[in-house]
Amino acid sequence: MSHETVKGDAFENLLREERQFAPSPEFAAAANVKEGIYAEANADRLAFWAEQARTRLTWSKDFTETLDWSDPPFAKWFVGGEVNAAYNALDRHVENGLGDRVAIYFEGEPGDTETITYADLTERVKRAANAFEALGVAKGDRVAVYLPMIPEAVVTMLACARIGAVHSVVFGGFSSEALRSRIDDAEAKLVVTADGTFRRGKPSPLKPAVDEALAEDGHTVQHVLVVRRNKQDVAWTEGRDLDWSEAMASASPEHTAVGHDSEHPLYILYTSGTTGKPKGILHTTGGYLTQCAFTHSAVFDLKPETDVYWCTADIGWVTGHSYVTYGPLINGATQVMYEGTPDSPHQGRWWEIVEKYKVSILYTAPTAIRTMMKWGSDIPAKYDLSSIRILGSVGEPINPEAWMWYREVIGAGKAPIVDTWWQTETGAIMIAPLPGVTSTKPGSAQVPLPGIAVDVVDEAGAAVPNGHGGFLVVREPWPSMLRTVWGDPQRFKDTYWSRFEGMYFAGDGAKKDDDGDIWLLGRVDDVMNVSGHRLSTTEIESALVSHPWVAEAAVVGAADETTGQAVVAFVILRGEAELPSGEGADAEIIQTLRNHVGHEIGPIAKPRHILVVPELPKTRSGKIMRRLLKDVAEGRDPGDATTLADPTVMQKIAADLRK
Ligand code: WTA
Repeated sequence: MSHETVKGDAFENLLREERQFAPSPEFAAAANVKEGIYAEANADRLAFWAEQARTRLTWSKDFTETLDWSDPPFAKWFVGGEVNAAYNALDRHVENGLGDRVAIYFEGEPGDTETITYADLTERVKRAANAFEALGVAKGDRVAVYLPMIPEAVVTMLACARIGAVHSVVFGGFSSEALRSRIDDAEAKLVVTADGTFRRGKPSPLKPAVDEALAEDGHTVQHVLVVRRNKQDVAWTEGRDLDWSEAMASASPEHTAVGHDSEHPLYILYTSGTTGKPKGILHTTGGYLTQCAFTHSAVFDLKPETDVYWCTADIGWVTGHSYVTYGPLINGATQVMYEGTPDSPHQGRWWEIVEKYKVSILYTAPTAIRTMMKWGSDIPAKYDLSSIRILGSVGEPINPEAWMWYREVIGAGKAPIVDTWWQTETGAIMIAPLPGVTSTKPGSAQVPLPGIAVDVVDEAGAAVPNGHGGFLVVREPWPSMLRTVWGDPQRFKDTYWSRFEGMYFAGDGAKKDDDGDIWLLGRVDDVMNVSGHRLSTTEIESALVSHPWVAEAAVVGAADETTGQAVVAFVILRGEAELPSGEGADAEIIQTLRNHVGHEIGPIAKPRHILVVPELPKTRSGKIMRRLLKDVAEGRDPGDATTLADPTVMQKIAADLRK
């Protein structure tokens, strides 16, 4: 793994933020958590988490030990306890007389809607649990989920959790190749998918990618369960493929949930790392659910009786796991689920949804906020957004301008903004202001949550003083931490626990300002963040060199106003390759390579620009100097290139680009 150095003085003059917004006295008085919670958690961290676990979840068997950290970095939380995620998200609310409360307001992309109560959702999950069991899915088996943002996605996840099967959700925007490698790595027995979804008013297929992923023998999948969403004709493999509605109709609506061990695997979610192969991040049950429930209540100040919550994340990302499926439903929230994009059929679609359902808590990503900013304030101004009382941000640093726009235009200058820092690996929010307690600051995620030991350290692992920058670490285990990398415990140790002795290394650079508030400064490794989606430079490079025309490739994330970063690739073509020639050949080469990356990984990974170059800048030890390429990609003069094996390379590249 390579790390670019983060030097304290690089942060001088950066991030001076004088503006602060204190919570109103009324908001503070009614808030779920009060100032005292920090002192309480500091006094006894483990007792604090044990209390959260016992009050927020219903355990079928109480735990005997809060944390077993005898074999670090392999943690066990709430040892000996047994708990069922689906029971906690569903049945218990129905048993408590809340069956008629709306769990999900579903808004389909074409405008179809569905209102699903907790009683409805419970029945659907029970049927799905029976249907999965009838297909031979047992506790511990893996189920791949390749679905659009439709209620069946939540039903599938909870049905898996109910029977102790491990779900592995694969984002619907990933390609068949990406799906295949994830199915293989997890050895999934069942795939749940849909014929397709809708994009910009038109049907958009999903099942063909599953068919392609399973075209060759040698995989472990026995059945494919297909939701009929867009009702397009799809190929059908008799015996393997089954219709979701038929399977549900013939399944019993009765199913008793049993408790699973607190450390029973709940799900695997693949995320990009610094090497080519995505990592299967493993989350387990008791600790994960505890931190999801606590953070969802404390950070969003959720009042389940009155709030309407909307997290715009897709179920294919961790935010969709923790803050669409698990956190909100465990807390008995009413939420909106939307299938489509923000600009279809018009750029006011989100605000129309907020007005229609009286959304009071909105949780989205900076890239979306910046896009809406670009579309203009007059669009949201056409809608009644007065229901909004809390605004959340996640996925990448939010720049102060976007933060202020979010506050003024969407939050009417009064809704507290919670900028939440966390990762697929952390499972739940780790750093965020607490509305009602923290005076918020545009651009900063600010404070570690109660019970969470985040710090910023220098190269040697020593805490940096206020006003200085370094690397973000977590000093103590936390309940929703990843437990391992699926099938590769060594990689788990190497990636997260080897950089600093005894600390979890997040891969992010950060700074403490003069007040000690934390500012996130982006990744310090070879991971890019494009529209809040994690992409690995190495993974895209591997995709490029897998094309017969490409000899070598280097990928960098170049700063981009809207998407945070954009993928820029530098490629050297093979001398002996049979390349297109004649007019338009260059454009054809680039288009072919872009599509190839789309096919290997998914459309989100397609480079914005591909530059064909004669050589790549390398150090004498053969390492590609991405920093210099980043300079070129961002339109700067790369400056000092003397450490290169061939110092003239950058001139050659620059000369070539001018042509
Ligand atoms: C980045 C998404 C700044 C960070 C939940 C992290 C953020 C990566 C923030 C994880 C934030 C996430 N401010 N940066 N509020 N939230 N990040 O795994 O670089 O998709 O390491 O999890 O996103 O991305 P992931």
